[in-house]
Amino acid sequence: MAGLVSAIHDFDMVENVDVQHKAGQDDGENMNGKRILLIVGGGIAAYKSHELVRRLKERGASVRAIVTKGGAEFVTPLSLSVLTEEKALTELFDLKDEAEIGHIRLSREADLIVVAPATADLLAKMAHGLADDLATAVLLATDKRVLVAPAMNVRMWEHPATQRNLATLRADGIRFVGPDEGEMACGEFGLGRMAEPATILEAIAGLLGAEEARPAAKATPLRALSGLPLRGRHMLITSGPTQEPIDPVRYIANRSSGKQGHALARAAKALGADVTLVSGPVTLPDPQGVRVVKVDTAHEMLAAVQAALPADIAICAAAVADWRASDEAPHKLKKLHQGTETTLALTLNPDILATISKPGPSRPRLVIGFAAETENLIENARAKRLRKGADWIVANDVWPGTGAMGGDQTQIHLVTGDGVEDWPPMSKDEMAARLLARAADAFAALRPAAE
Ligand code: C5P
Repeated sequence: MAGLVSAIHDFDMVENVDVQHKAGQDDGENMNGKRILLIVGGGIAAYKSHELVRRLKERGASVRAIVTKGGAEFVTPLSLSVLTEEKALTELFDLKDEAEIGHIRLSREADLIVVAPATADLLAKMAHGLADDLATAVLLATDKRVLVAPAMNVRMWEHPATQRNLATLRADGIRFVGPDEGEMACGEFGLGRMAEPATILEAIAGLLGAEEARPAAKATPLRALSGLPLRGRHMLITSGPTQEPIDPVRYIANRSSGKQGHALARAAKALGADVTLVSGPVTLPDPQGVRVVKVDTAHEMLAAVQAALPADIAICAAAVADWRASDEAPHKLKKLHQGTETTLALTLNPDILATISKPGPSRPRLVIGFAAETENLIENARAKRLRKGADWIVANDVWPGTGAMGGDQTQIHLVTGDGVEDWPPMSKDEMAARLLARAADAFAALRPAAE
């Protein structure tokens, strides 16, 4: 079992699967009473659904199957009905089943929806919200977690369209297991084989375990966050640049506009949080209903942040100047003669993110930092997460051509302890809303602190 768990973690494509095996937590061996809705898509790997059903039932789960039109070319609904001991469903407009069960009810009754195998076509439909058959209608209607086991030809897997759809689905909170690398039915070799039933079972166990550990979040999964999930929570957000004086009229700064940090503060407020926004000099209006502390320098920002603690969640979105002038001149520095070199001695500023990430009683339980890079984005962000002790790093490419610095659009990669999620391009407002929804979800899943 442990081997399988590490296999899941080692495999890049399944970084998204949240296999939680904490000491003393049910490891998912026992699935008594759990209801799995299994969607079997079209593909040669559909035959593996039989073994998956058998293993789920052995562990005490009940399984209901939906077979897509393509899936029914590879496995018969009858065989799945026999194995699941429930009528396998196929068509959206089967009036009798609609009257008796209904796709909305189907999608809500399950504890987890598993799509195995998921074809490139099914992934594309999911990513675009199409609902032209029972399987896709259920997937669009559900508020439950969805685990997907893709299976397709390696070229289809690698196609930019499929990769774009995967990024969209990851950002929507869909979890993935596999695909594996190996020989395919079509004779080609590469990534695209559906994960083995044992591996899928392990991912299911991990997700069911995670659900169990997050009863408060159960009613408010990522895509259906409603109400005020951050009500009563204190969120601390830094935003904007800092200005480090050289003399009374000159300073060191950067091009940060504060748009992202301020959008995060608005999004946190919208989810009910009590928000403290510590902002460097920006030209933006103060977000409504938010406590705004205005600072100029990194030192002032650090002091304001420390004064605002404790906080439940902290997001450091400020572009803090790395250096300050070692000595601030009391008077305006005079120009020297042409040809004479002037040197400016610089001192490293305190790292606010690293400071508040240090373990201790005042550490916010979820600390999120940003990494703006122009090269080796993911590598640098991963290293930054570890070096600074943050829980998540939002990595974004600020190469001048991207327009991210100062612009309204962004494209980020969310680096967590579980892996990297590539989010599609979107506005900074939308990114803020999604990140906050994600943070609220993750916060709810944390074990209660000794509050
Ligand atoms: O080291 P770098 O500036 O790339 O790190 C970026 C992240 O660290 C951002 O979250 C930023 O707000 C934070 N940071 C900080 N204090 C600093 C430098 C960066 O909080 N002095």
